[in-house]
Amino acid sequence: MALDYSKKVMDHFINPRNVGEIENPDGVGEAGNPKCGDIMKIYLKVNDADKTIEDVKFKTFGCASAIASSSMATELIKGKSIEDAWDLTNNAVAEALDGLPPIKMHCSVLAEEAIHTAINDYRAKHGLEVIPMEKHED
Ligand code: FES
Repeated sequence: MALDYSKKVMDHFINPRNVGEIENPDGVGEAGNPKCGDIMKIYLKVNDADKTIEDVKFKTFGCASAIASSSMATELIKGKSIEDAWDLTNNAVAEALDGLPPIKMHCSVLAEEAIHTAINDYRAKHGLEVIPMEKHED
């Protein structure tokens, strides 16, 4: 059975934004889902003075929803402070994509987790407190 994807999901899957790697990133994070084996990696360039995300790139080995979620999530955190970027939930990513099929919601969790891991990587390297990660049931 074909899944019903929104136009935005299709757009971000076919034409993903911010794909790639950042050389000498300030923070790197990876998240994976052991059930499907999909993996997402996020690279951050952070402005040390005001702690905003100057650039973000991703590499995702995963399904269409995971790629669309990575693309949308990177668009949503670019230019934000690391605190505001931390508050981006997977539900907000899915909403910005005009929804994901219910059985694909877990794909958006990868984006939230990879961003959190990358921000914590930055925080750890800059003497900031590492924030406890919330575990999603899935
Ligand atoms: Fe694994 Fe979508 S099926 S992330």
